[in-house]
Amino acid sequence: AISAVVARQILDSRGRPTVEADVQLADGSRGRACAPSGASRGRHEAWELRDGDPSHYEGLSVRRAVANANAELANAVIGQSAVEQARVDDVMREADGTPALERLGANAVLAVSMATARAAAAHRSIPLYEHLADLAGTAMSMPMPMTNILSGGAHAGRGMDLQDFLAIPVGAKSYSEALEMIARIRLSSARLMDERGLSTLLADEGGLSPGFGKARDAMDLMIRSFETAGLRPGEDVAIALDVAASELFEDGVYRLDGEGLTLTGEEMIEFILDLASHYPVVSIEDPLDQDDWENWRTFTAQLPRVQIVGDDLFVTNVGRIEDGIARGAANAALIKLNQNGTLSGTIEATAAARAAGYATVVSARSGETEDTFIADLSVGLGAGQIKIGSVRSTERLAKYNQLLRIEEDAKLGFAGVRGIFGLNVPI
Ligand code: PGA
Ligand code: ZN
Repeated sequence: AISAVVARQILDSRGRPTVEADVQLADGSRGRACAPSGASRGRHEAWELRDGDPSHYEGLSVRRAVANANAELANAVIGQSAVEQARVDDVMREADGTPALERLGANAVLAVSMATARAAAAHRSIPLYEHLADLAGTAMSMPMPMTNILSGGAHAGRGMDLQDFLAIPVGAKSYSEALEMIARIRLSSARLMDERGLSTLLADEGGLSPGFGKARDAMDLMIRSFETAGLRPGEDVAIALDVAASELFEDGVYRLDGEGLTLTGEEMIEFILDLASHYPVVSIEDPLDQDDWENWRTFTAQLPRVQIVGDDLFVTNVGRIEDGIARGAANAALIKLNQNGTLSGTIEATAAARAAGYATVVSARSGETEDTFIADLSVGLGAGQIKIGSVRSTERLAKYNQLLRIEEDAKLGFAGVRGIFGLNVPI
């Protein structure tokens, strides 16, 4: 049973405060976990509680969330069995009393929720990914990575309209081979940018930010970096996009300042379709605003062979995923623990997506820590895919490296392209 909870304020990869929690069990087993934090957050996400006191971290400190974990959440979970994750998460939701965990803070609840799973795995003397697979009742597999190479939007000072240009090494036969292909692409893209006199400083997720006005220039650079790395575009490696369109949506229109365009929903669909038709694009995330359901449905119907991922649209929320399924919006779900607020809720959301044949992509946030929980989660849930950010900063590499260790330990099958919607047959 849980005997103590100790939370504290630590700093994330952007140097902003976040919540870390330690959960201790009566037998001495312990678990520690940290809440991540997004920049391009969806309107419907679980609530990240910040103090708003300008005298501490410009209002971003999380001392109230930490205090809530140490007092109310600790009171609620002490005495509960750590292996009963759903029960622990339920008592925390009850203690909070709001759907979005606004009172005590989803950052506080999630850190305790994740730390509970770690303590339970320690108690059972099994790796975290195995414990998570038991909780979810799923078959484990090594995920295909979807990796940020070029960044724009809220992660790169609005340098480009689209937020993420990512590489999926569709030809890889194992996770470690996939990682090597990605590292080669990341290196060759930096070299190409250097040759053109472009800055190679890192964006928030360790990606590069050439600041191109036109998305096509970024796509061309992606293709050149695949080729320079000795990889065939469309065969060895394909392109994924995260448009993060909610960030572009204002007063009913999409503003693409770099392109010099202001687009209606219909025009935005045409713009993305045109881009996708000229390049080997296999996955498109958030092409439209988080509440633009009707255009989401139209867009998804137009690209039956491309993975269409709902991030801000679904916010890892069972209700919104079920809405999307009923409406035919998207065919894949991004899975982010802190959008949901608890581990159990995240497992439920993943199951709901999968039950409808939607692909799933476990994802990091742009603000991360050294916590590698999502690496184990992607394996334990057999999610098929993982999106961590680029391969140039330690808060990301900690996760990529944890997956190398799991690959070595567990000898699990590699999801490969099978996990990607529309690619369940070899391309
Ligand atoms: P965020 O971005 O963590 O800043 O929300 C990640 C994403 O949009 O996928
Ligand atoms: Zn996204």
